[in-house]
Amino acid sequence: METILVKITPEDSGSAYKDAAQLLKENQVVGIPTETVYGLGGNAFSEEAVKRIFEAKGRPQDNPLIVHISEFDEIYELVSQVPDTARLLAEKFWPGPLTMILPKSDKVPLCVTGGLGTVAVRCPSHPVANRLIKETGLPIAAPSANLSGKPSPTRASHVYSDMNGRIPMVIDGGDCAEGVESTVITLATPVPKLLRPGNITISQLRQALGQVDVDDAVLNPLKSGERVSSPGMKYKHYSPDADIVVLCGEYKAFCDYVNQRKSDDTYAMVFDGEGDGLAVPCITYGTSGNYKELSHALFDSLRLLDEKGARVCFVRCPDRSNDDNLAVLNRLLRAASFKVVEL
Ligand code: TXA
Ligand code: MG
Repeated sequence: METILVKITPEDSGSAYKDAAQLLKENQVVGIPTETVYGLGGNAFSEEAVKRIFEAKGRPQDNPLIVHISEFDEIYELVSQVPDTARLLAEKFWPGPLTMILPKSDKVPLCVTGGLGTVAVRCPSHPVANRLIKETGLPIAAPSANLSGKPSPTRASHVYSDMNGRIPMVIDGGDCAEGVESTVITLATPVPKLLRPGNITISQLRQALGQVDVDDAVLNPLKSGERVSSPGMKYKHYSPDADIVVLCGEYKAFCDYVNQRKSDDTYAMVFDGEGDGLAVPCITYGTSGNYKELSHALFDSLRLLDEKGARVCFVRCPDRSNDDNLAVLNRLLRAASFKVVEL
C-alpha cells in the first residue's frame, strides 16, 4: 500500500479535510495529529476499521483504544451513564489531554474496548484533529501511531517511518505541543483512579474531584499474575532499540557511574545545561524541574537515540518527590523495563 503524507493546517480549505474524512468513512486508517502524540485513527463504530488499526500497529487485541470526539455532547452515544464527575472534568480539561474511562454504551463494539465493559473517551484540542472528527461525523478510535512497543510519535515523520506501507494516509499537522500521551483516569470505580499520568497532573485532578487514587502500575512493574486496571500496563512500552537505564542521584555520581561504563555506542540523556564531565556523547531532554519540557522532549529523544545507533543510554532521573513528574517517570521506567540504579 502506498502511504501519502499530506500537510494540513487548521485554516486549510475543506478539500484536504474531505479527502481524509472520506478515507475514515470508508473504514480506512489515517495517521492524525493531536496535541499529545499522533494517533492512528479509524471509525470507532466499525469492526473493520478497528481491525485495521490493530493490524497496522501490531497491537495485542486485548489492549483497548481511546475514542476521540469533537465536543462533549458526543459522549452520550458512547457511554451508558455520564456521571457529574465526567461533566466537571470535561468543563475544566476538555478539549485537551485527558481521557476518561466510563461504562460503554451498546453502540461501541467490544473490539474497541478489548472486550471490557468500559470505554476510554477523549476530546482532543488540536484544531486539525477536532475539525477532522467534525468533518467525518464519527467518533474516531485512535491509539498512538507508533508500531506497538516503540516510542509514541510526536512528529508526522515518526508516523511515516513506522507506518509507511501500512496505512493509506498520514496527516502532517506539525509537531505535537504536549509530546506525551493523555492522562487516563477511570470514573468507573467507586473512587476515581489515575491509570496513566500525563500533563493534566494528579494535583489538578485532585483539585477538581477531591480524592483520586493512583494505580500501583503507574510506577511499579506488574507482579506475576496481577490483574491490571488498564491492559496497556501489561505490555513493554516506549522502547527504543537502545537499552535504557535510569540513574537516580546527584549529577557528579551520574558522571562517575557513566564514565566507568563507557564503551562504544554508549550515550547519556541529561538535563539542559549538563554534559560537562561526561566522557560519552549526550543528548538533553529539557530543564530539570520543568515537567512540561521533559515530557515534550522525552519520546523525541528516545527516537533520536535509535537514529544515532545508541546501544546503551543512561538517563538522569527526574525528581521523584514531585508528582508533576509522574508522566515522565512512568514512560521512562517502562522504556527502561524498570532498570533503575540508585547512585
Ligand atoms: O494522548 C493519547 O491518549 C493518544 C492520542 C492519540 O489521543 N492515544 C493513546 O492511545 O495514547 P493508546 O492506545 O496508545 O493508549 C491508550 C491507553 C492504553 O494504555 C489502554 O490500555 C488504556 O488507554 N485504555 C483504553 N481503554 C481502556 C479501558 N476501557 N479501561 C482501561 N484502560 C483503557
Ligand atoms: Mg500507545
